[in-house]
Amino acid sequence: MAVISLRTLVVLAIASVSVANPVTTNAVTKLALDPVKGRTGAYMHGAPDADRARAQLHKSRGSGGATTIPATNLAYVQYTASIGVGSPATYYNLVVDTGSSNTFVGTGKKYVKTKTSIPTGQEVNVTYGSGYFSGYEYLDQVTIASGLVITNQSIGDALEYADFEGVDGIIGVGPVDLTLDTLYPDVNAQIPTVMNNALEQKLISTEVLGVSFAPADSYSDTNGALTFGGIDDSLYIGEITYTPVTATEPAGYYWGINVTGATYGTTTVIPGSYAGIVDTGTTLIYIADNWYSTYQESIPGAYYDSNDTGLIVIPESSVASLENFTFQIGGVEHVLDPAAQLLPQDQNTAWGGKPGLQYGYIGPLGSNSGEGLDFIIGQKFMERFYAVFDTANERVGFAYTDHTFS
Ligand SMILES: *[C@@H]1O[C@H](CO)[C@@H](O)[C@H](O)[C@H]1NC(C)=O
Ligand SMILES: *[C@@H]1O[C@H](CO)[C@@H](O)[C@H](O)[C@H]1NC(C)=O
Ligand SMILES: *[C@@H]1O[C@H](CO)[C@@H](O)[C@H](O)[C@H]1NC(C)=O
Ligand SMILES: *[C@@H]1O[C@H](CO)[C@@H](O)[C@H](O)[C@H]1NC(C)=O
Ligand SMILES: *[C@@H]1O[C@H](CO)[C@@H](O)[C@H](O)[C@H]1NC(C)=O
Repeated sequence: MAVISLRTLVVLAIASVSVANPVTTNAVTKLALDPVKGRTGAYMHGAPDADRARAQLHKSRGSGGATTIPATNLAYVQYTASIGVGSPATYYNLVVDTGSSNTFVGTGKKYVKTKTSIPTGQEVNVTYGSGYFSGYEYLDQVTIASGLVITNQSIGDALEYADFEGVDGIIGVGPVDLTLDTLYPDVNAQIPTVMNNALEQKLISTEVLGVSFAPADSYSDTNGALTFGGIDDSLYIGEITYTPVTATEPAGYYWGINVTGATYGTTTVIPGSYAGIVDTGTTLIYIADNWYSTYQESIPGAYYDSNDTGLIVIPESSVASLENFTFQIGGVEHVLDPAAQLLPQDQNTAWGGKPGLQYGYIGPLGSNSGEGLDFIIGQKFMERFYAVFDTANERVGFAYTDHTFS
């Protein structure tokens, strides 16, 4: 069975943060999701493939100070990248997460301290939509690629943790605000992210992350690419459509955007402009429960499997008549065709499902719309669209790819 990851940090009340105005310790839990529990581990396979792909990509560095590294679609539910820590570097398979901002190691392979590892004396503790970790914070050298070696990056050494089976930690590429209230005793400290430090140390020329994911052909498929410091024009087709990060909270604490609507066929599912988040660390595409009901009721016989998988089940008789699910983002239609909504049936067992059933990727968020975080555009959307996380211009971009419809 597989973990449906929700690496997204459970958002804290980031109200009025300053030295004079300490962060409230009352954590407001906004993400009321209930990821399916009781799964077994997904241990890393295919590491040699990842290493070969990494060597290839190192040879084809992006232009303009941008660096592209490979990313692995692991167990269909998360993307990892091989990131070095220390000198000499130990390589860790870290979940690529735009929904949180702390970087840490130790949940699989233990943190190997070297001469570059400097203890900060701080404890660190982060709770995610699924899982948590706590331990001690260090400064250390982080190697993203041979030409992208960050010094004095703050990283956590996870000593206690849950729900990180098969991976060694997280590389958190969300907004830096999400690191507030994760250290102790420095609860008011923001921890510069790897993106912040890469810019500060002039290793990248702009704080932009380009993300290329694709549907996996196998349990561990190194089919993704991350571009630090720019975008890779070879990984999408047409234009990138940008939309500003949202001012609506709590979506705005994350990589939050407004969509201006969504339809299933000719049925309106999202009836206007609403805020939500774009999160590589969430596996599925979640929409507010009332919108999900509209979607499910539009598919004859569809139901929600809360027992085994936490996925929609679509009767075989309705599969042939499935329609497009279309998000309106930045004035452009982003179409998830029927195939993009469906779990390939040969993956059913890996997801804890029953053979022969047809499961789908669009699920209920766990609360109705109107809460300022009404959808999560997760990994399964980004397997179809190239994504750009542009801190410099406070915007998120999407583009069609050669695997949007496949
Ligand atoms: C980490 O934080 C959570 C939530 O605030 C708390 O329940 C837990 O006790 C903390 N764990 C450690 C080890 O500090
Ligand atoms: C890293 O930080 C430590 C402690 O703040 C400092 O002594 C050291 O010079 C820094 N190293 C680099 C390469 O900036
Ligand atoms: C974004 O969506 C929220 C509702 O989630 C709405 O209140 C806000 O006005 C929208 N912002 C824009 C710029 O449309
Ligand atoms: C879930 O399990 C319960 C108890 O076995 C059963 O009554 C129910 O029909 C199941 N629901 C679904 C959607 O399979
Ligand atoms: C989905 O949209 C694509 C692109 O617009 C179109 O080619 C295709 O026919 C649509 N599929 C369905 C089932 O409507």
